[in-house]
Amino acid sequence: MHFSPGSLIPFTLLASTAAATHFQVTVGKDNQLRFVPEQIDAVPGDTITYNFFARNHAVVQSSFDKPCEPQAGNAFFSGFTPTPSPDVASRTTFTITVNDTKPIWVYCPQTNGNHCQNGMVQSINAPKQGSNTFDAYKALAAKASTSKSPADGLPVGGERKLTVDVGPNGALVYSSNNITELPRTVVEFLFNPRNHTVTQSSFEKPCQPLDGGFSSGFVATTASPSGASFKIVIADTKPIWFYCGQVNGNHCQSGMVGSINAPVAGNTLDAFIALAKAAPPPSRIPPQAPLGGTLIVNGNVIQKMSGNAVDVDAITKGTPPAATSSAAGKPPGASQTQVVPPPGATIPAAYNGMAGGGKPGNYGWGKELSDVALQYLYIEQFIEDILANLLFSGHDKISTGAWSGIYPKTITDTMGSMAAQALVHRESTADCLQHFNKPLLGECKYNLPLGSADEFLHAALVLNMIDISVLISATAAVATEKDGWLVPLLATEIGAKSRMTAVVNLMQNHMAAAAPREPVLPPALAWSYAQRYVGSCPDPIKGMPAAAYPVLKIASKQESAGRTTSVALQYDGANKGGQQWAAWVGPWGDLAFTPVNGGSAAVPADLYGHVWVVVVSKGEGKLADLPGMVVAGPELVWVSSP
Ligand SMILES: *[C@@H]1O[C@H](CO)[C@@H](O)[C@H](O)[C@H]1NC(C)=O
Ligand SMILES: *[C@@H]1O[C@H](CO)[C@@H](O)[C@H](O)[C@H]1NC(C)=O
Ligand SMILES: *[C@@H]1O[C@H](CO)[C@@H](O)[C@H](O)[C@H]1NC(C)=O
Repeated sequence: MHFSPGSLIPFTLLASTAAATHFQVTVGKDNQLRFVPEQIDAVPGDTITYNFFARNHAVVQSSFDKPCEPQAGNAFFSGFTPTPSPDVASRTTFTITVNDTKPIWVYCPQTNGNHCQNGMVQSINAPKQGSNTFDAYKALAAKASTSKSPADGLPVGGERKLTVDVGPNGALVYSSNNITELPRTVVEFLFNPRNHTVTQSSFEKPCQPLDGGFSSGFVATTASPSGASFKIVIADTKPIWFYCGQVNGNHCQSGMVGSINAPVAGNTLDAFIALAKAAPPPSRIPPQAPLGGTLIVNGNVIQKMSGNAVDVDAITKGTPPAATSSAAGKPPGASQTQVVPPPGATIPAAYNGMAGGGKPGNYGWGKELSDVALQYLYIEQFIEDILANLLFSGHDKISTGAWSGIYPKTITDTMGSMAAQALVHRESTADCLQHFNKPLLGECKYNLPLGSADEFLHAALVLNMIDISVLISATAAVATEKDGWLVPLLATEIGAKSRMTAVVNLMQNHMAAAAPREPVLPPALAWSYAQRYVGSCPDPIKGMPAAAYPVLKIASKQESAGRTTSVALQYDGANKGGQQWAAWVGPWGDLAFTPVNGGSAAVPADLYGHVWVVVVSKGEGKLADLPGMVVAGPELVWVSSP
């Protein structure tokens, strides 16, 4: 699927308003080539769900003029839905959201029996008078010479969803366990009493988790329906294998397994079931959940649990049930200004496209996580979260908001990618933490610098540079046998962030160097800098200072021949404690000291590009010593082009 990086889908889109109506439409019920109802009057925010009956129907959006062809450019399409029964609806539905009051024209594209020509058409908000009425559309359809559907056959423009029962009537089964579905379809697992999981495995090892696969965690409930569901999205046509990891009763070995798009020969579902029956107990599931999907309990999106088990009955008691209609939208407790989902939330697949790629398919996780790696992952989660919040808010303003038109579309689109990328990086970090059973940091509240486009750009640049600085020191710190698996992830993120920095450089009329020299920064300094944008965070990060260091401002720069030669520094504590020094932190951990005299410090001669400056109380030391001697800072200085 192609996602334009410029078209950010608001996260609040799915949160329906109280007034929204959810229409249900039957498609071909009782062997009739009809939609019921045939005409709907809807307002923006309403949803329309198509329920399919026997034969093989689909819904497509057309223009008024060409009733049996997909409307050029942006037609929605459900995908074909073969269904056995004329009066029992398929478990697969397709739901569209009405965005405006313009007429919407719909038809069934089945050519076997010419469904469109035979009256299988529908209108939403069709004019009641004039030439473009529903009857006029139906009459045009009857005369259409061909009927077409989108060539790739894949659902688009709405949500195609299949529901699957987990353990119905106490049985150790998934119903259905033998799923054939189109890519992009959402599979929603509905939990029933007892204590089950839906966990992805490989074909070869049916009762063991697949690295990087999905897992609902244990979902214990006594109620039916339980109000607990786990949703995954089918990414492609490859077979997907899943099982229940409950050891108490050996559910997997008892045949509680299933497949999506299993081959009909070779590695069939039957072969998988046989392997599961022979699998040596105990079954295992990942120590953290949910992974790779969205777990919803009584309308609440469960971002993270401590461990991998959730007691649905306890959540019902403890939490006021949210309106079910908001289930897929805003998580409970999200503040009004929150524009990105909180840490640990599964991000919509569309963002992977915008970011130019999703998180790793396989992290190659090691056996354990060192304390050093853990601390860096937390700092990364912290910084990526600020970046994501800043970039999404800023992108809104430069693309469609108050600052639109300042930058060309290609640039604003790239900023959109950058925003999505911050989310993907945050999610990768969260995956690593959750894999090793570490809690995520809770949601922070921010004071984002969004007073002007310049202020926003500067903050985006500096935070991006901070992130690069931290990623480099993290890469150096974790390049050990134990944590070595983290290096490719961190290195990839450095590359992505560097490209984005180049874009911001261009926006600021700086040359984007072909070979940027990325400065390195000790994490405590990075953390301290970022504090200026933080209102509050619920969870402290181990090893960070008790409070942020005083802010350092570059009051002015002296330049000579295109190079910054000295800077005037402003900070609290300028006159305390005798001689102070500017520590200059450049690429490869370069560190040089120059004295601060009369509020000014010279820039060492051999530094280029972006350099960090920190005011310190000593004129010598190593990079790792800086946090112990900070007076103020850090701040970023553009010295010159290489
Ligand atoms: C409503 O907007 C969404 C998001 O842009 C789009 O995917 C969907 O197709 C639109 N709905 C209709 C009926 O066009
Ligand atoms: C799954 O469905 C396919 C046809 O779609 C069928 O050939 C196969 O026997 C089924 N397997 C099981 C275990 O039900
Ligand atoms: C559900 O099963 C898991 C694994 O056996 C267990 O850890 C958890 O406590 C169970 N939950 C409840 C509420 O029984």
